[in-house]
Amino acid sequence: MAIATTNAIKLQAYRAGILHFTGDPAVASDAHHWHEDGLLIVRDGRIEAAGDYAQLHPGLPAGTEVHDYRGQLIVPGFIDTHLHFPQTDIIASPAPGLLPWLQQYTFPAERRFAEPEHAAEVAEFFIDQLLRCGTTSAMVYCTVHPASADAFFSASERRNLRMAAGKVLMDRNCPEFLRDTAEGGARDTEDLIRKWHKRGRQLVAITPRFAPTSSDAQLQLAGELARAYPDTYIQTHVAENADEVAWVRQLFPTARSYLDVYDSVGLLRPRAMFGHGIWLDDADFRRMAEAQAAIAVCPTSNLFLGSGLFDFARADAAQVALSLATDVGGGTSFSMLQTMNEAFKVARMGGSALSALRMFYLATLGAARSMQLEGTIGSFAPGAEADFIVLDPQATPLLARRTARSDSLEELLFALALLGDDRSVAATYAAGRNVHQREG
Ligand code: GUN
Ligand code: ZN
Repeated sequence: MAIATTNAIKLQAYRAGILHFTGDPAVASDAHHWHEDGLLIVRDGRIEAAGDYAQLHPGLPAGTEVHDYRGQLIVPGFIDTHLHFPQTDIIASPAPGLLPWLQQYTFPAERRFAEPEHAAEVAEFFIDQLLRCGTTSAMVYCTVHPASADAFFSASERRNLRMAAGKVLMDRNCPEFLRDTAEGGARDTEDLIRKWHKRGRQLVAITPRFAPTSSDAQLQLAGELARAYPDTYIQTHVAENADEVAWVRQLFPTARSYLDVYDSVGLLRPRAMFGHGIWLDDADFRRMAEAQAAIAVCPTSNLFLGSGLFDFARADAAQVALSLATDVGGGTSFSMLQTMNEAFKVARMGGSALSALRMFYLATLGAARSMQLEGTIGSFAPGAEADFIVLDPQATPLLARRTARSDSLEELLFALALLGDDRSVAATYAAGRNVHQREG
């Protein structure tokens, strides 16, 4: 294949095993592309081509730099579809369940984000942590303070990352110091949309925290914003924990289900991401699929907080769009590899098996599809934004020992998913730029 020579200076090539997806491996057997000796070609921050080295290399203009990552794997950057940047400092704080954990740890920690300097400092650390784990895009909750969203978007923009984020809406059942009002919260969200949505790679999410902390009026206004700005995102929590579900039933006695509280105000639509979804029923799953909304499955959080086990088989039967998410700080790791590890075990407990290929799909193209961003992130389709990571199968002595014996791509990926973490990420690139390089 001949590569045009104009702007050759901005052409970069990367030689490694290359894996990406064009479909869901649970649905189609030819959904992944694997080039054992592959070449990824990037021009001006976008994917030009991904394929076999032997086929693509002869077409490169003479003198093109080829980064040699042989022995390692290049995959699209991971996409974490649900986590909270203000909870970075309270990761691994034990509590007897979701609601006490919110009261004891989460709300006091979020209070400090009224200070812009604190928000800015945490946002930098948080983004460093994502990048060292190979996560290049995420859907991020900020706090109720609009300045916390400004701090996050500014940090993301400086690194040219594709991120979705939103100011939390919360006007009841929370401490006074974290409370907005229905009108004030909607106004602040609209201001953020005008300022940040589609500015560079930034995307705004309308973010009612969860039904118990929003009044009817606040949910109504969130739905109105969702209609007025149909290409924005929506993110919230649903059916995470049994006590929370019982509380929602009390607060919204006429709703058919927890999901129906959101549906009835227009918050179920494409680009709506619902965290957890453990206690949804079949009608909810069907409605979710019909509305083209999506679920962020958060296994480390669900196990840590004792929330329950996500039912992959039932969600798949309804053909709901799924992705994986850390839910930091309820989640116990920033690593999507560790998240796959726990997802595998959760599926096992429910009597189903997740292949490693499926888990890598869910953390890349599956998430991009859930966000209606296929062709933009999550794969190496020509023209996609060049967010990719280099995974090292020899990152630790144990990984090296195990992967030396793996005799298929599935086994190699499975070892990386079960045994890997930030140490397995040798390098992270965003829009073609190196944004993290592992030491050593
Ligand atoms: N439900 C409402 N808020 C939160 C939160 O911050 N974390 C989790 N895991 N669930 C929630
Ligand atoms: Zn959450």
